[in-house]
Amino acid sequence: WVASADPHEDFLQCLHYQNSNAISKVIYTPINSSYSSVLQFSIRNGRFNTSATPKPLVIVTPLNVAHIQAAIACSQKHGLQIRVRSGGHDYEGLSYVSVLPFVIIDLINMRTVTVDIGNKIAWVQAGATLGEVYYRIAEKSRTLAFPAGVCPTVGSGGHISGGGHGMMMRKYGLAADHIIDVKLIDAEGRILDRASMGEDLFWAIRGGGGNTFGVVVAWKLELVTVPPTVTVFNVTRTLEQNATKLAKTDYVNVKEPIPEIALEGIWERLNQLDAQVAQLQFTAYGGKMDEISETSTPFPHRAGNLFQIHYAVFWGDQDSERSQIYTSWIRKLYSYMTPYVTKNPRQAYINYRDLDLGMNNLGNTSYKQARIWGTKYFKNNFDRLVHVKTKVDPANFFRNEQSIPPLSSW
Ligand code: FDA
Repeated sequence: WVASADPHEDFLQCLHYQNSNAISKVIYTPINSSYSSVLQFSIRNGRFNTSATPKPLVIVTPLNVAHIQAAIACSQKHGLQIRVRSGGHDYEGLSYVSVLPFVIIDLINMRTVTVDIGNKIAWVQAGATLGEVYYRIAEKSRTLAFPAGVCPTVGSGGHISGGGHGMMMRKYGLAADHIIDVKLIDAEGRILDRASMGEDLFWAIRGGGGNTFGVVVAWKLELVTVPPTVTVFNVTRTLEQNATKLAKTDYVNVKEPIPEIALEGIWERLNQLDAQVAQLQFTAYGGKMDEISETSTPFPHRAGNLFQIHYAVFWGDQDSERSQIYTSWIRKLYSYMTPYVTKNPRQAYINYRDLDLGMNNLGNTSYKQARIWGTKYFKNNFDRLVHVKTKVDPANFFRNEQSIPPLSSW
């Protein structure tokens, strides 16, 4: 892997050489008129869509496995980073931003969903959104479903790689709990399925986070049974209607109910901002989540957690003063919550990525440094993830600011 004087040109030539078969139609560079629209299409966080945001040298939108293999081989040969993107919902933009020279493999063209009602399974390509998955299942059956996230635009590739929870979590667990096979391309360009990769790697890719072990091309889902009719309702309460006395618990894996006095402190902080700007979303755990062991997938937040709190603040422009006010506000709220949530370590969910928890040094990823953020997301499963990474990608080709490091980087 020796970087040449012009890795970008060499990379393009390499792609054409590796696979002249139609790959030129799915390569975008900054001189291409569609480059910006392809890049921006699935960016969900406006903080990483500015003129100052580092941009990829090349975007490849593969039509098939051979295109992905070619992009991996050429990135390795010319020392470029790879960022894999499915739905682009990464909270820190890691699927489309890197400070090192990089290439995006965007799976937007690989989104086929094939549902087999008789066997209660579906094969879903990683570029399919959750909405597309739900739609294709619902087209064929009113009594089968897949338990994954709420937002229809989220991509299957990143979402399931990090666990994936939604409305059916208490009944069925996570999306990753219902993956029964996979097609993954590893750093050597091999296409692996569950049988050929072995159970260790199959365990790691179902919750250990994306862009670490390879490129997921497709997941095989086990569908679950649901009633044909579901009743949904909302109960609205204001503070004047004693809302504080309804909300009985807390945050990313809170083990003890939050005291009323702490809730009052939250309302006070929410009232410091304009209405509609900030949101705390409480997701109830329990049920099936309590029955699945902490080690059955890399996602460890199982029995004993009452609920998770997701903190969000929204603003529509790129006004830097406003950005500062809001990010500082949310950091203070997070700090205020410290006594009421999990401790040693304070826990977090990899799909709600947060670089404030710690980051790898991209040049020379250190195990010790990664352990700081890694145990917050994965608790004791972190070490098993490191072990798998060491076996399958010892050169640490697939990496980002929060990817699992191999052990050689102690
Ligand atoms: P994106 O393409 O940005 O990828 C995320 C990460 O996975 C990146 O590191 C990327 O490189 C890697 N990756 C992507 N595709 C890959 C592939 N094929 N192979 C290997 N690595 C790959 N979560 C939840 O559990 N429940 C929910 O209800 C929601 N709802 C929600 C709503 C909204 C509006 C947002 C922005 C986010 C959520 N999430 C969520 C969080 C979501 O699950 C998380 O951001 C996922 O990683 C998004 O997956 P994408 O493929 O969309 O992201």
